[in-house]
Amino acid sequence: MEEFVTLTYNGQEIKLPVVIGTEGEKAIDISGLRQDTGFITLDPGYANTGSCLSAITYMDGEKGILRYRGIPVEQLAENATFKETAYLLINGKLPNRDQLTRFSVMLNDNSLVHEDLKAFYQNFPRASHPMGILSSMVNALRSFYPELGTTEEEINSTMTRLLAKVRTMAAMSYKISRGHRVVYPRPDMTYCENFLNMMFDTPVKPYEINRAAVNALRVFWILHADHEQNCSTSAVRVVGSARVNLYAAISSGIAALWGPLHGGANQAVIEMLTAIQANGGDYKKAIERAKDKNDPFRLMGFGHRVYKTYDPRAKIMKKMCDELLDSLQIDDPMLDLAKELEEAACNDAYFIDHNLYPNIDFYSGIVLRAVGIPTNMFTVMFAIGRLPGWIAQWKESMDDPKWKICRPRQVYTGNLQYDFIPIHARI
Ligand code: ACO
Repeated sequence: MEEFVTLTYNGQEIKLPVVIGTEGEKAIDISGLRQDTGFITLDPGYANTGSCLSAITYMDGEKGILRYRGIPVEQLAENATFKETAYLLINGKLPNRDQLTRFSVMLNDNSLVHEDLKAFYQNFPRASHPMGILSSMVNALRSFYPELGTTEEEINSTMTRLLAKVRTMAAMSYKISRGHRVVYPRPDMTYCENFLNMMFDTPVKPYEINRAAVNALRVFWILHADHEQNCSTSAVRVVGSARVNLYAAISSGIAALWGPLHGGANQAVIEMLTAIQANGGDYKKAIERAKDKNDPFRLMGFGHRVYKTYDPRAKIMKKMCDELLDSLQIDDPMLDLAKELEEAACNDAYFIDHNLYPNIDFYSGIVLRAVGIPTNMFTVMFAIGRLPGWIAQWKESMDDPKWKICRPRQVYTGNLQYDFIPIHARI
């Protein structure tokens, strides 16, 4: 039976339909509100706004649940490859053997990038941030690979091309930034092995595959693969809604992810822990600063718009971090500091009252450090992981029969009309 919410204003009653998701989430459909009443809604930061119906990712921030296409992220982190996870997100179900083989072949065939792209890299100033470079380069792919097409096969080929090339481009940017020879992808390696080999193989020191590092990267990428309508995914959907090409939409997602309140937090956490270490390890002072409303400082890697309990991804990341450091026999004092800081914050009344718990970024930086990834590449690693999610969300929005260009409204608070003042009369 259809449910409604009744809105009453000045004696007038309006019935608004209730939409219920498969997990029982409820929303009020206000799509006819302005037309029927002249009102719009006001929701800064969209904290109460559902922007779409989506069948990709389910999360419950109160219970700490995250599922991709119905499968708990814990099970995927335990059993799946990143490639399977990407396929699952984009196509809606896990691939069978034949589908996986076809997908692997397509990824391999598309993994090289146009040699002329190297010239672009070489002309960025040395100090450029890799996220700025990646965002520009992904946008530039449209010029190198102009064929987009509209058939399912053509769209699949553009999506696979992106998945294959972004990984190569990320490793390439690292090599070029170090002034080293670029290492090409190899057909005999898995998606994760290939990336590490392209990053760390050199003519004087061949890269030896390290199982623990490969596994850490697999889990890291799976945990980042999608997170429903977060800031960067919303950027991809909003920009994509103007019907720009996929490269431009993904490029905008990368730009949004760069921010320290979003994906840039993994770099910000390491910078924060380094600063605390440099000041003698006084993490309690950092906690006091984070609580001080006159100080803009926030505890990086803490808090989340949706999770009001421990981020399920952070749980897996923390466990994996311990195992990785053990297996690589690394004694990282930063991990000890992170654990002390976490314990103190989680027992502090301010953090308890505000439901602030560690998010995925709190431990992910320590994992990436152990794998050998330089700090300024951390958010690029996040971007490679999030790529399947962005692509899946873009595809879902393009296939939506109720698709509309994204165009929010506003409540204007500026000047009322007044006449133009000639320059000699202005004060
Ligand atoms: N440290 C201290 N206080 C915090 C923190 C923090 N990390 N996060 C939120 N708060 C406080 C705010 O000061 C505010 O307090 P008040 O209600 O007393 O004024 C309250 O908690 C709510 O904060 P908002 O900023 O309104 O929460 P919002 O949902 O808008 O922001 C965000 C979420 C951006 C993640 C925030 O928690 C934050 O800045 N965290 C640090 C950055 C970070 O780790 N980002 C990664 C997020 S996960 C990801 O994108 C992969």
